[in-house]
Amino acid sequence: KAKRKPVIAGNWKMNMTPSKAEEAVKETVELTKGMDGCDIVLCVPFVDIRVAVRATKDTQVKIGAQNVHFEKNGAFTGEISADMLCECGVEYVIIGHSERRQYFGEIDATVNLRTKAALKAGLKVILCVGEILAERQANITAEIISMQTKLDLAGVEADELKNLIIAYEPVWAIGTGLTATPEQADKACGIIRNVICGLYGKEAAEAIIIQYGGSMNDANAAELLAKENVDGGLIGGASLVPAKFTEIVKAAQ
Ligand code: G3P
Repeated sequence: KAKRKPVIAGNWKMNMTPSKAEEAVKETVELTKGMDGCDIVLCVPFVDIRVAVRATKDTQVKIGAQNVHFEKNGAFTGEISADMLCECGVEYVIIGHSERRQYFGEIDATVNLRTKAALKAGLKVILCVGEILAERQANITAEIISMQTKLDLAGVEADELKNLIIAYEPVWAIGTGLTATPEQADKACGIIRNVICGLYGKEAAEAIIIQYGGSMNDANAAELLAKENVDGGLIGGASLVPAKFTEIVKAAQ
């Protein structure tokens, strides 16, 4: 397997009040102590950021947000800027998650703006792409994920790629208990890597971290992570239980 350091990231989605978050973050820090074979990230709700950053200070666990606005500041009621996240100690941000695309009108054009704004501010971006079930059944998975990757990265400079992670999340596998087979995950991540090769060259393609996400858990992580093109995971449900999340981190060592 290529020598890329895997990134295991939890996406808590809209779960955990600050008091619960503090407990879960502390437990995750404790349980994953010394597991430095992968980078460990927890992407928490905005209101949990302060407690989460405090509880992970000088530890192996990094904190991420789940979205960011693309304007620097101004009259955008309800939005959070990249500078705000940075000042709060956030290092990562998820952009373009399928739930944002599905329920909140997120489109590739705005995913692209957010990605560029976050990278400019110095955040590490976890960019999500993935096909819905009808697209897989119509045999256009490769077209869909290639198109998303190209549109979402339009105008992103080669030297910004070191702060970019791509998460392949087939929408039909999210929160459904249905996991892509290791072969399906490997193939899709490989397609994305090829797109990066076409856009930025071979070296960039070999270096970029591509995660799999979609019902990854303590039982299936090892075989997914063993695949050549799968460099980590973006984990929803299982990341809410520190012991389960730790098992996935362990599988990535
Ligand atoms: O971003 C992670 C995600 O969408 C997968 O969620 O609950 O299927 O692990 P889950």
